[in-house]
Amino acid sequence: MTLPDICIAPSLLSADFARLGEEVRNVVDAGADWIHFDVMDNHYVPNLTIGPMVCEAIRPHTTAPIDVHLMVEPVDAIIPQFAKAGANIITFHPEASRHPDRTLALIRDHGCKAGLVFNPATPLGWMDYVMDKLDIVLLMSVNPGFGGQQFIPNTLHKLREARQRINAWQQAGGQSIRLEVDGGVKVDNIGAIYAAGADTFVAGSAVFGAPDYRAVIDAMRAEVLKAGKQAV
Ligand code: DX5
Ligand code: ZN
Repeated sequence: MTLPDICIAPSLLSADFARLGEEVRNVVDAGADWIHFDVMDNHYVPNLTIGPMVCEAIRPHTTAPIDVHLMVEPVDAIIPQFAKAGANIITFHPEASRHPDRTLALIRDHGCKAGLVFNPATPLGWMDYVMDKLDIVLLMSVNPGFGGQQFIPNTLHKLREARQRINAWQQAGGQSIRLEVDGGVKVDNIGAIYAAGADTFVAGSAVFGAPDYRAVIDAMRAEVLKAGKQAV
């Protein structure tokens, strides 16, 4: 049987910031596929986190892709810095960029995968005219700014809609686009989130808040597998 092509991306926001390199190594050893890297500027969101220097510092600790989620405004100036710091994927909130089409192209020009992030109330229409420039679409299932919030159930409807758009695009010959979800993802809801169409799962507090990272990541994969079997 083939395993579902999913990515588990633990968010460093809930890691021990005093031991970030070690946390990155441990969580990848425990089965994480990507490292999710939350960048907050105390302007676009009411919190302040980490930037390109920290990305550069953790880069030697893993070969896993670093998935940079920019919650900053403006967006463009920081992109070359993250590309230089070793980011593999860069996503941003379209309403925080004056020219989202240009920003997507800028990310790809710097050798990274590019994507848009949709807040719970942000319409998916922002995707429509930039489908050819998307490698990933990220749906927020909480309002951005903090870890440890509750998953917003309406995200499941939005995921189904986004999945339909992506499938239609791919069926018409377009490139593949991953569908990522971020906020409140846990072992007990990841199956439903997968069934709604997500293939990439950010989990901060669920992973780093647990004593055994591997146990949580394994349990998440098992739930996805179960949901996949139920769907057949
Ligand atoms: C929220 C961040 C998330 C957050 C997820 O603005 O983008 O990546 O760290 O944390 P949990 O999984 O705890 O909701
Ligand atoms: Zn995030």
